[in-house]
Amino acid sequence: MKFARRMDRFGEGVFSALAQMKEKKSGDIVDLSIGAPNIPPAPHILKALSEACLVPENYVYAIYDQKELLEAVSLWYMRRYGVSLNPETEICSLLGSQEGLSHIALSIVDEGDTVLVPDPCYPVFADGPSLAGAELYYMPQRRGNHYIIDLKEIPEEVAKRAKLMIVSYPNNPTAVMAPDSFYEELVAFAKRYDIIVLHDNAYSELVFDGKTCGSFLRFPGAREVGVEFNSLSKTYGLAGARIGFCVGNCEVVSKLKTLKSNMDYGMFLPIQKAAIAAVTGDQSCVAQTRAAYEKRRDLLCKGLASIGWEIPKPEATMFVWAPIPDGFESSFAFVEELFDKAGVLVTPGSAFGPSGEGYVRMALVQDEEAIAAAVKRIDESGVLKRKARQ
Ligand SMILES: Cc1ncc(COP(=O)(O)O)c(C=O)c1O
Repeated sequence: MKFARRMDRFGEGVFSALAQMKEKKSGDIVDLSIGAPNIPPAPHILKALSEACLVPENYVYAIYDQKELLEAVSLWYMRRYGVSLNPETEICSLLGSQEGLSHIALSIVDEGDTVLVPDPCYPVFADGPSLAGAELYYMPQRRGNHYIIDLKEIPEEVAKRAKLMIVSYPNNPTAVMAPDSFYEELVAFAKRYDIIVLHDNAYSELVFDGKTCGSFLRFPGAREVGVEFNSLSKTYGLAGARIGFCVGNCEVVSKLKTLKSNMDYGMFLPIQKAAIAAVTGDQSCVAQTRAAYEKRRDLLCKGLASIGWEIPKPEATMFVWAPIPDGFESSFAFVEELFDKAGVLVTPGSAFGPSGEGYVRMALVQDEEAIAAAVKRIDESGVLKRKARQ
C-alpha cells in the first residue's frame, strides 16, 4: 500500500513515545503529561445535555448552528469580554477548537504559503497549517522576553509573505499571559503586512492570583485582522463533548463555515444545548474550576520548591512550565528518568517545538492528593539529586 507523504510528520512523535512508556510500566503512576481536564461540568450543564438526549428529534443532522446557540455565544462574549458579535456572521461553532485549528488553514493558505507559529506551541498550531501544505516560520517565545513573541524579530521578507499567524495567551505550554501592548503591536503588525491573525483564547478563565484576562477582539482593529478561538473544554469541564467557537472577522468566519459545511454536519443538538446552558447559566462553576487549578498549581510549585526544584509560578492555564534540573542531556532524557524512577509522567518541552528543549510541561490534571504524591515520589526517587551525585 502507498500512503500520503504528509503522514510522515505524524510518525513516532513524543506523545506516542510517552504512551509506550506508560504501557510498559507496571504499578501506580501519576500522569501529568496530557492536558486532559478531570473537573466535570456543573449539574445544570449535565441536566441540559441529558434532557436534550431524551428528545428523539434531536438526533437529526444539526447542519447549522442553532440560532439559540449563536445568540448565547454572542451574549456570553458581551457579558464576559465586553465584545459584541453578530450572531449570524461573526460566530462559527467548532467540534472542539482542535478541530477548527486543524482545518482552518485549509481555508486560508495554499501550498507553500508562509504561516507564523509560536515556538514552543500547542502542537496543532503547527500541524494544521502543515497539513494545508504551509511553510512554517517559528516565532520564538523566549524566557528572556517573558515567553512573549517579539514581533520585531520577524524578518521583513518573512512578514511580507506570511498569510496567517497563530498566537495564544494565556499560553500552553509556557503558562504566561500577554500584556495589552503585545496585542496592540500584533494588530498593527497584521495590518501592516496583511496577515490574518488567529488568537487562541482557550485559557482565558484559568488566570490566577486575582488577575483577569480579556479577548483579543476587544483591541481596536482586531476584528479587521482576525479571529479568536475559544473552547468550553477547560472552562466548563466539557472536553469530551467537543465544543469550541471561532469568532470575529466575518470573512474568515464565512470561509471556515463553507469549508466545514463540506466536512461535517455540525454539532450534535444536545451538545449545542449543553453549550447554551454553560455560557448562559450560573458562572460560579467557572470560579470553582479556576480555584481548583490554582490550588493544584500552588501545591505543585511549593512542593517542588521544598524538595529543591524551584519553578516559576504560572500566571495562568492548567500547566506548569519548568526548566529541567541540571545534569540531563535533554528534556526527553529527564522525562524518561523521572518516569522510570518516580513513576511521574510529564511532557518533554521538545514536544512543543525546538525552543521547548530544556523544559518539561506538567499538566495540573490530577487532584491534590495525586499531586502531593507526585512530589513525594520525585523527592524519594533521588532524580533531583542526580547532579550532586555525579
Ligand atoms: C491552547 C489550546 N488550544 C486548544 C486546545 C484544544 O481544545 P479543545 O478541547 O477545544 O479542542 C487545547 C487543548 O489542550 C489547548 O491547550
